[in-house]
Amino acid sequence: MAAAAAAREQNTVPETSAVGDPIFSRVRLATSSDVPFIHKLIYEMAVFEGQTHLFSATESGLTSTLFNSPPFQSVTVFLLEISPSPFPSTVSPDFTPFVKTHNLDLPIEDPERDNFTPDISNDVVVAGFVLFFPNYLGFLSTHGLYIEDIYVREPYRGKGFGSMLLSAVAKQAVKMGYGRIEWVANVNALKFYEQMGVRILQKLRVCRLTGDALQAYDMVNI
Ligand SMILES: CC(C)(COP(=O)(O)OP(=O)(O)OC[C@H]1O[C@@H](n2cnc3c(N)ncnc32)[C@H](O)[C@@H]1OP(=O)(O)O)[C@@H](O)C(=O)NCCC(=O)NCCS
Repeated sequence: MAAAAAAREQNTVPETSAVGDPIFSRVRLATSSDVPFIHKLIYEMAVFEGQTHLFSATESGLTSTLFNSPPFQSVTVFLLEISPSPFPSTVSPDFTPFVKTHNLDLPIEDPERDNFTPDISNDVVVAGFVLFFPNYLGFLSTHGLYIEDIYVREPYRGKGFGSMLLSAVAKQAVKMGYGRIEWVANVNALKFYEQMGVRILQKLRVCRLTGDALQAYDMVNI
C-alpha cells in the first residue's frame, strides 16, 4: 500500500482505485480538520436526495458552527474511515473509536477516493458520517440523541458500515443514560432501519418552517 501512496504522489495512480480484502474500518469523532470532508459528504447527500437547490452550506459555515463545545453536548459528528491497513488502537476519554475488520467478496472501486483521503501517505479514505445532537424528551424527563444526517458513500454501501455508524450513536446514547435516538428517515432507507430494530412511526409527519416562510415571522406581532 505504500507503493499505492507513492504512485498517487507521482500522479501515476489510475483514476479508479480499489480497496482490497481484508479492509479495516474505524468510526471516530470528527474534528475541525475534517470539515472539508464533512462538507463534501453533506453535498453528496443533497445530490442523493435531489435537494441541491436547498444546499447552501459552506466550509466556513460548518467551521463556525460545529465543534464549539465538548463532544456530545451539542452537535457531534462521527466519521467513518476505511483503510487497507489496520488502524492503530487509540483510547480517548471522550470517545474510543470503534474499529472492525471486514472480509469482502470483491474489492471496493472508489473513483472519488482522492477527494476523500485526509492524508495521502496512509491510504485512509473517508466513507461516511453521522451528525447528531442531544434533544430533550419530556415524556421520559431525560435527554435523547437526534440524528440529523447519516450517510455512507455509494461504493461503501451494503457492507455493514451504515449499521456501524448507527450502532455507534445508539451505544453512545446507552452509555450516557439517554432514553431514545430519533431521526427523520428517507423512505429508501426504511428497510435498513427496520433491520436494525427501529420502530417507524406511521402517524407522525415532518413539519418544516424555513426560507421565506420562516423569515416572514420577523414581521409577525406576537
Ligand atoms: C442508508 C445507509 C446509511 C445504510 O448504510 P449501509 O452501509 O448501506 O447499510 P448496511 O450495509 O449497514 O446495511 C444494514 C442492513 O440494511 C440493509 N439495507 C441497507 N440499505 C438498504 C436499502 N436502501 N434498502 C434495503 N435494505 C437496505 C442491508 O442489506 C443490511 O442488511 P443485512 O444486514 O441483512 O445484510 C446508506 O445506504 C446511505 O447512506 N444511503 C444514502 C443516504 C441515505 O439514504 N441516508 C439515510 C437518510 S434517512
